Amino acid sequence: MRITVIGTGYLGAVHAACMAEIGHEVLGVDVDELKIAALAEGRPPFFEPGLADLLARTHAGGRLRFSTSLREAAEFGEVHFVCVGTPQRSGSFAADLSHIDAVVDGLGPHLSEPCLVVGKSTVPVGTAARLAGRVADLAPAGDAAELAWNPEFLREGTAVRDTLEPDRLVVGTGSARADAMLREVYAPMIEAGTPYLVTDLATAELVKVAANSFLATKISYVNAMAEICEATGADVTRLAEAIGLDDRIGSRFLSAGLGFGGGCLPKDIRAFLARGEELGVERSLRFLREVDEINMRCRQRTVDAARDLVGGSFLGKRIAVLGAAFKPDSDDIRDSPALNVAAVIKLQGAHITVHDEEAVDNARAAFPHLDYALEPAKACEGADAVLHLTEWRQYRELDPARLAAVTRTPRLLDARNALDLPHWRNAGWTVRALGRPA
Ligand code: UGA
Repeated sequence: MRITVIGTGYLGAVHAACMAEIGHEVLGVDVDELKIAALAEGRPPFFEPGLADLLARTHAGGRLRFSTSLREAAEFGEVHFVCVGTPQRSGSFAADLSHIDAVVDGLGPHLSEPCLVVGKSTVPVGTAARLAGRVADLAPAGDAAELAWNPEFLREGTAVRDTLEPDRLVVGTGSARADAMLREVYAPMIEAGTPYLVTDLATAELVKVAANSFLATKISYVNAMAEICEATGADVTRLAEAIGLDDRIGSRFLSAGLGFGGGCLPKDIRAFLARGEELGVERSLRFLREVDEINMRCRQRTVDAARDLVGGSFLGKRIAVLGAAFKPDSDDIRDSPALNVAAVIKLQGAHITVHDEEAVDNARAAFPHLDYALEPAKACEGADAVLHLTEWRQYRELDPARLAAVTRTPRLLDARNALDLPHWRNAGWTVRALGRPA
């Protein structure tokens, strides 16, 4: 099929490459000319494992092109996936829908042939019905230009696999034609046994925010348990292991520590709260305020634990920060808990040196007042404490004895509960972790 993917950020660039990989003719579209120029040369504009190979393959196969023109998109595509961002509005919890509105307004007047516009962005429930009306008003093709909703569940770091082998496909539409077109788009996945659920528009929009809210709640739940463990001398990692073995609970997304960040979970639960208020159902979502507060407390608890570790004050202390991305295998620093903690500690008088495998350039642009190192050992030189804030695999493979030798005092805070603490203790480190006994 001829597919356009509008918005080539973390979601759209991966979706475009994956659609080309499964055999479609794809045009990726974005207003950002630099991003489009990079993609057109087969260079991913951000780090995502597997994406560079996929771009190279699909380019070579001649199935993937890029453009900045919505008119060209309208003329080319039978199916238009809209993948633009819906960030948190400044000064409010609500989602900023200006990008998605601009796409529909820019594309609509050029839709003169039968086609399907498919929203993938995360939006407040009710947006899809509004946009369907807008497409109907604007498109010269009239009823032959339809809108459906198909939320995306990929995670950064595993986005390529999540897109090619999704857990499920959810399609919001009341139209048999739209359903048939999306079944054709996703035919290889459906043939491989991926569950394909058809719902109404509102349910499809809600599935996405309900899923992200559930995941955020699961993380905050285990982080609340970490607070209880700290008050009682218990160990949250053993607790999580034990409750996770009940398969009704499951062990995934029970890693206690510094909590969730990124461009999705924090802003999605806030936008859901804001939408709940507009709908008069805030009571049903009030628990998400608590989920957000527990999560933000993780950052404060990390700062407090680090301060204790260096003797009660950061003034004049050198702190090494391992990790800047909001999660490993990504260079995304949006709402990064690691950088948030680093910036707060800096404000309290410490000198900070940050290491990250992929996110240093992004971090430096957003936090130019922090120092950066290209090797973990460089970041740790002369440090009074080392904070492990993003659990890159590389940090699990560090040699604690060699690292101890370059620090001023070998003190470690593992805020992701991912390091082998006895190994570090044996190498002479004073070790603390969140939710675990000292
Ligand atoms: C999240 C969802 O997991 C995806 O299903 C969804 O499609 C995506 O948002 C989206 O809405 O686009 P993502 O933000 O890429 O994906 O990353 P996650 O793997 O969910 O991690 C989010 C944050 O939670 C990270 O900061 C991570 O460190 C933290 N986390 C995760 C924990 O603190 N503990 C855990 O056990 C798991």
